[in-house]
Amino acid sequence: MKQIKSQPTIFIIYGATGDLCWRKLVPALYNLFLDQWMPEKFSIIGSGRTAMTSEEFRLKLLDGVNQFSRSGKAAEDRWSEFSQHIFYEAADVNNYETYSGICNKVNNYEQQWDSKPYLIHYLAVAPALFPIIAENIAKNKLAEHREHARIVIEKPFGRDLDSAKALNKLLNEYFKEEQIYRIDHYLGKETVQNILAFRFANSILEPLWNRNYIQHVQISVTENLGVESRGGYYESAGAMRDMVQNHILQLLCLIAMEPPNNFNAAEMHGRKIDVLHAFRKFTPELIRTSVVRGQYAKGWMEGKEVPGYREEQGVSPQSNTETFAALKFFIDNWRWQGVPFYVRTGKRLHQSASIITIQFRDLPHFVFPPEAVESWQQNRLIISIQPEMSIRLQVQGKRPGLDMVLNTVDMVFDYKSTYASYTPEAYETLLLDAMTGDQTLFMRGDQVEAAWELLQPIINVWTNKPSLNFPNYSADSWGPELAEALIAGDGFHWFSLPLNGKK
Ligand code: BG6
Repeated sequence: MKQIKSQPTIFIIYGATGDLCWRKLVPALYNLFLDQWMPEKFSIIGSGRTAMTSEEFRLKLLDGVNQFSRSGKAAEDRWSEFSQHIFYEAADVNNYETYSGICNKVNNYEQQWDSKPYLIHYLAVAPALFPIIAENIAKNKLAEHREHARIVIEKPFGRDLDSAKALNKLLNEYFKEEQIYRIDHYLGKETVQNILAFRFANSILEPLWNRNYIQHVQISVTENLGVESRGGYYESAGAMRDMVQNHILQLLCLIAMEPPNNFNAAEMHGRKIDVLHAFRKFTPELIRTSVVRGQYAKGWMEGKEVPGYREEQGVSPQSNTETFAALKFFIDNWRWQGVPFYVRTGKRLHQSASIITIQFRDLPHFVFPPEAVESWQQNRLIISIQPEMSIRLQVQGKRPGLDMVLNTVDMVFDYKSTYASYTPEAYETLLLDAMTGDQTLFMRGDQVEAAWELLQPIINVWTNKPSLNFPNYSADSWGPELAEALIAGDGFHWFSLPLNGKK
């Protein structure tokens, strides 16, 4: 059980007037408070450039909680209790002298609480500001106490291998690795954490979890939405940097890693880095045959006309940025030799869904006559991360009737019908872990670098050779045709789950 109650804690959120703080961080902290996870003594200090009073800041945050909290609109009495802990301090993050308001607050709390508070520095700012804030935190002696000060960094962590290395180096000048919490919000999702429970708490899976029984694996993280108001950021990112380098490679690691000896952060990170090191390197030949990029054209989604990527706000009309990526990975180790891992992700696609499909091998021999097995398919295990939260094992059964006819049936574990209790948001889990000092669900510096190293050759080719056929998929489709060809060439097809009756 996580122990937190007696640990006086101060959250300092840099970039507190931004979207993340309003939409995700404070609603998560508020829910932790409602569920009695917050320490008895805590404070949240928002820091931003805009001048505003703490009262104005609280009102803005209340609006965010009312709109985005999983527990719905805030009750007046609970919000007023919680919001007493919130303060705003205007500071120019570039200028270390302006941090004095934060320092004074921290010192006051230390005296008032009569103990040294834990300081969680949360960098909810543009990546360009990470270095200067880290430096100024250190200059203001806000990270001196190694066990009491932590820094939480949002993605993107670098925009290529060199910048990620430089950022790690810089952070390591001021912070020890055990103080650095690199967030990947996918790791905080309940269904993603459950991959670990499912794999390592059930003895029946391990004997099947290898090249002898698994034919291929698919990870599909697709989204309906376009880039919306984030065109400026997305132009310098693209699907590879935005989704594959972090969320998708982390999912792949959880599926492919060896069983850890225990659930400690160091052990878990060690097993994940083993996978990252075992990925087959992307040579020019492999990039030609195993990687597909796409960009959405304008079109229609649910009866509404939607702009193409090149027409979005903040996007160049000649943009070469990919909004879709599909890749085939191989993992060169004993467990996975020869098993393809197909991955696809993109915006403005037909469905918003994240699912992992494990397809098992063919039967060694059919004992049924051909007419009985017309709709036969290999066994599949489908881990649905969102929006449906479920795990399905697809097996063959006998259809009722006088003939022997087989069809596919699902054995389903569904969160909704199994648990009446609520599901915490990813940020609740991750913020609580940052408070308790548990780095298991965060990314270690070398993992981030290994992930960049793997994808860097592809990113280089895509940057140096602009696509000649962008835009190459229409809104509400499943992406470019080449992505279908990528998997069809091996005799498989992309798998999706029907959603609200829509396939
Ligand atoms: C973010 C990406 O990290 O993850 C977004 O920057 C993406 O582009 C989002 O939409 C997807 O997260 P989720 O939790 O909605 O699947």
